[in-house]
Amino acid sequence: MSDSPATVDLRSDTLTRPTEAMRRAMATAEVGDDVFGEDPTVNQLQERCAALLGKEAALFVPSGTMANLLAFLSQTHPGETIILHEDAHPYNYEAGNVAMVGGLLTRTLAGELGILDRDSIFPYVIRTSDHHFSETSVIALENTTNRGGGNIYPIETLRDIRALADENGIKVHCDGARLFNAVVETGHSAADFAQYCDTISFCFSKGLGAPVGSIIAGSADTINAAHRFRKMLGGGMRQAGFLAAAALHALDHHIDRLAEDHRRAREFRAGLEGLPGASFPMPSPTNIVLFDVKDVAAFMGKIQEQGVLMIPMGQRRIRAVFHLDIDDEGLIRAIEACKSAFGS
Ligand SMILES: Cc1ncc(COP(=O)(O)O)c(C=O)c1O
Repeated sequence: MSDSPATVDLRSDTLTRPTEAMRRAMATAEVGDDVFGEDPTVNQLQERCAALLGKEAALFVPSGTMANLLAFLSQTHPGETIILHEDAHPYNYEAGNVAMVGGLLTRTLAGELGILDRDSIFPYVIRTSDHHFSETSVIALENTTNRGGGNIYPIETLRDIRALADENGIKVHCDGARLFNAVVETGHSAADFAQYCDTISFCFSKGLGAPVGSIIAGSADTINAAHRFRKMLGGGMRQAGFLAAAALHALDHHIDRLAEDHRRAREFRAGLEGLPGASFPMPSPTNIVLFDVKDVAAFMGKIQEQGVLMIPMGQRRIRAVFHLDIDDEGLIRAIEACKSAFGS
């Protein structure tokens, strides 16, 4: 048996493993065939999430990727355009599914911290009867922003984007993979954020610490359309109540504790700030810390020697994500590994 301490794995908050209590909740879940709509635990989860988000209906899906895709498929027609931030997850990390499956054009825009606003979107909204153009059908936002360092959409920005969308008959989708990080940090409710979006998704398998699953919520009609597309894509899961039980457990036990991840992210950043060679391109208000180094490969090699893992995000940028499986000891080891990698 090795005496070396466990790896401190800060590559992503998707790496969490279910706690013993979550495993028990899963093992004892009441289940049925969800493709028949007969899984009581899935039904309970969907109803609870719809209420939490202030929407008519919600649908449990296997992944955040599928939630985003269903939002687009159910609110667009092939040949239309969706507007996204250039760092948005669907544009960068979802294997081009909006083009391949949705037949959609993407208009990607720049914006500080991964955030778009009314003024940046306005010039690119196309609503016209002139058949030269691909019409804009959805504005897609991400809250919190992944490549934007876990930053949070200001409520006023969402309100202004909503107004722009309404003026032009466009839908708004929010990829809220880490919505509850925004909720815990700001004190706004999930419904406060969701009220400005036609559809909103969030993931149970990130900071909330469940093994699988995301939710998408919206109007009854939109979720009905999403349900059909979920089936089409092979996302109908049978006794999915085992997974929904983990998600329900996460809602009961893992929301408030996200504040601990944010506190550790702040302490990690404070531990590195001021070290020669360390620079921070943006604020880190939630569980994600982005920092820049001179040589990513060398830096990663050095921290890995000390059992600490992070993920490269470009030529100079590194991402560290704090989550359920990182305690204070892990935090201290991460800071020490970075200090020695910076040569301090
Ligand atoms: C912002 C954001 N959206 C969507 C996803 C996709 O989630 P999944 O991996 O469950 O498909 C991720 C995954 O990390 C993400 O960070």
